[in-house]
Order: sequence, then structure tokens, then C-alpha cells
Amino acid sequence: MARRKLWLYFHGNSTAFRIPKRPCFCWVSVICMLYLLTRTDFACSSSCDCFENARTVTCLDMNLSKLPQDIPMWVETLKVSGNNITTLTRGAFATNGTSLHHLATLLLSGNNVQCIEAFAFEGLPNLKTLDLSSNRLLYISDDAFFGLHKLNILSLNTSLSYSVGNQIINTLTFERLSSLTRLELSGNKMSSLPTKLFASQNLKALDLTNNSLKTVEAEIILKWSQHEKIRVYLQFNPLMCDCSLETLYLWLENTTQVPDAGHLRCFGPERLNGTLVLKLKTEDLQCGNADLETVSYVFLGIVLALIGVIFLMVLYLNRKGIKRWLNNIREACRDQMEVYHYRYEHDSDPRLASVAV
Ligand SMILES: *[C@@H]1O[C@H](CO)[C@@H](O)[C@H](O)[C@H]1NC(C)=O
Ligand SMILES: *[C@@H]1O[C@H](CO)[C@@H](O)[C@H](O)[C@H]1NC(C)=O
Ligand SMILES: *[C@@H]1O[C@H](CO)[C@@H](O)[C@H](O)[C@H]1NC(C)=O
Ligand SMILES: *[C@@H]1O[C@H](CO)[C@@H](O)[C@H](O)[C@H]1NC(C)=O
Ligand SMILES: *[C@@H]1O[C@H](CO)[C@@H](O)[C@H](O)[C@H]1NC(C)=O
Repeated sequence: MARRKLWLYFHGNSTAFRIPKRPCFCWVSVICMLYLLTRTDFACSSSCDCFENARTVTCLDMNLSKLPQDIPMWVETLKVSGNNITTLTRGAFATNGTSLHHLATLLLSGNNVQCIEAFAFEGLPNLKTLDLSSNRLLYISDDAFFGLHKLNILSLNTSLSYSVGNQIINTLTFERLSSLTRLELSGNKMSSLPTKLFASQNLKALDLTNNSLKTVEAEIILKWSQHEKIRVYLQFNPLMCDCSLETLYLWLENTTQVPDAGHLRCFGPERLNGTLVLKLKTEDLQCGNADLETVSYVFLGIVLALIGVIFLMVLYLNRKGIKRWLNNIREACRDQMEVYHYRYEHDSDPRLASVAV
């Protein structure tokens, strides 16, 4: 009876097993179970938790400095998070010479990853989701993502450091990620967008929320609009609602490719801070005004030049009259001077006389 209780204790409500009738059967089962338990222990890394039924292995907050080498082959979802793995070296996921053929989801957020070497994800032919968010990437080799032919989702949220974000994306060869459908670059303080981002033709979602974009250049908008399948997310960027926003503004008004268009707000200039971009009027961007100002300055210049020419002509046509007039003035001056001279001499006489006296 006691043995039977033990059996029930181990198996709970499981209906998969028949409750054994004979004690020796029970012993065999217990031994089998212990064997299985030790085997699982052996197959699972000591720093990870293995859930074979869910095909999931998690290695959380273990302060690991390297990826565990003894990850069981059946793993489909591997979550390594909250560790201190600064470098993903070549073949980092090749466990003891074999590869994790079934691995489909690899979550590596918050591991202080700074460097991803070439061929780091070698031997993961079925990987579909790769989360590298909340790391501190400083360097990604051009060949880092080599071999990830089936990768659908790549997340690099809050992972690219300020100075190298754009450069990393530029050197990244997205052509290799031919199946990529979703690229997440949220929270990376990116202030401009590299054109290389759009090499992947299958991309359907591009998350650029919470960056430092003031606008998006016309060249890039053209690429997006030509690539009809892509959806671009732009919320939480400090958009500058002046003339530089014009192309983006006109596109937003008339596209379904930006699902969060209705939530985009101006950050500057100050008078428009907080205004919804789609609530703006074209004249708020003050593009026309700038043109009008140029035109009016040109017009003023022409008018001034004309006046100058007319003035010179008048002078030229009246040159004789002017000459006469100048002569008159000169004569008048001379007369005046003479009178003055005479008076001076006359006035000085008495003084001279008194000196003589
Ligand atoms: C992480 O590892 C590096 C060396 O690889 C070490 O310098 C650093 O102190 C570690 N950080 C933590 C929080 O353990
Ligand atoms: C790696 O494989 C070799 C033989 O291929 C074996 O002797 C060794 O025990 C394995 N190491 C681990 C950690 O599984
Ligand atoms: C990345 O950020 C976006 C936007 O905040 C979010 O929707 C997505 O779930 C994030 N991805 C991960 C893997 O955290
Ligand atoms: C934006 O990203 C920063 C990190 O760069 C994060 O601290 C902040 O919570 C994010 N804001 C939103 C609204 O997602
Ligand atoms: C708006 O989009 C439609 C098709 O979606 C296009 O025919 C039209 O020319 C666009 N208008 C402007 C101003 O871009």
C-alpha cells in the first residue's frame, strides 16, 4: 500500500500510466524513473533549467560568461538572459561539435553582449527568431548572421550604442537574411537611417519606434513606398515639423504603410510641440513661406536696381544743367569767400593798429 502511495506521489494525476498491480513492477518503474531523472540531469546544463516536454531550455540570471556547452539536442526554444556574455564567438551554439538542429527561437536579451564574431550562429539551420535586445553591441561582424537562411524575426531593441548604431546597420549584410520579415530597432537613439536596411525584399515590419529621428529622407521614403509590403513603425521619435518634414508629411497623409501614423507627434519647433503630425496643415511646415520670402527679396533687388539705373540716367541726361549748376555754386562760393576774406582783412586791421601802438 505504501509503495502504491509513493507511485501515486510521483505521478500525480497522470492518466498516462496504469497503476501497477504487483510490487516488483513498481520497483522496476521507480528504478526506470530514477534512471530517466539522472539522464535528464546529465543532458541538461547545470546552469540551465530544461523542460523537455516544452522543448525549452532557460539559463536565467546565472552570471554566465560563456554560453553553456552542454545544451540538449532536442531544444527548440533557448532562452539565455541576464548573464554577462560579452562575446558571441564563432560557433557559439555548436554544442560539442554538433549543432542544435531543432532550435527555432533563440532569446539572448540582457546578456551584456558587445561583440558578435563571424559565424557566431553557425549550425542553427532552423532558427526563426533571434532576440538580441537590451545588449550593448559595439561590433557585429559582417558575417555574424551567416547561415541564418530561415530567420524571420530579428530584434535589436535598445541594443545598439549611440555612436555605432548607424554604422553597425550599414555594415550588416541583410542580404544574407533573405527570409527576414520583421526587424526591430526600437530604442536605439538612431538619428538617421542607413539605406542598406532595405536590402531584404521580404521585410514586412520595420520597427523604428523610440529613436532620435527628426525626419525621414525623401530617398528612403521612396524606397519604402516602392516596397508596398513593408510596414514602418515610427512612434516616439522627436519629429521636427518644419520644411524638412514635408516629404514624410505628404507621404503619411496618403499611405497605409505607417500603421502608427495617427500617433506621430511633433517635437519641434516649439510652437508645434506635441501636435499630431496628421493634424498639421501644409503651411505649418512653412515651406511655401520660405519660397515667398526669396521671391520678394529678389523682387526688391530688381526694383532697387531699376531705381539706381533711372537715377544714373537722369544724371547723365542733365549733365549740362548739372555742370552749370555746379559752376554756379562754385562761383557763389568764390564770391562768398572773397567777401569773407575782405572782412577778415578789414577786421584784422584795428588789431594790427593797436599792436603797432
Ligand atoms: C562581465 O564580464 C567582464 C569581463 O568579461 C567583466 O569585466 C565585468 O566586470 C563583468 N560584469 C559583471 C556585472 O559581472
Ligand atoms: C563531447 O564529445 C566527446 C566525444 O565526441 C565526449 O567524449 C565528451 O564527453 C563530450 N563532452 C560533453 C560535455 O558532452
Ligand atoms: C521591441 O520593441 C518593440 C516596440 O517597443 C516591441 O513591440 C517588441 O516587442 C520589442 N521586441 C522585443 C523582443 O522585446
Ligand atoms: C525608449 O527607449 C529608452 C531606452 O533607449 C527606454 O528607456 C524608454 O523606456 C523607451 N520609451 C518608450 C516609450 O518605449
Ligand atoms: C495617394 O495615393 C493614391 C493611391 O493610394 C494615389 O493614386 C495618389 O496619387 C496619391 N496622392 C498623392 C498626393 O500622393
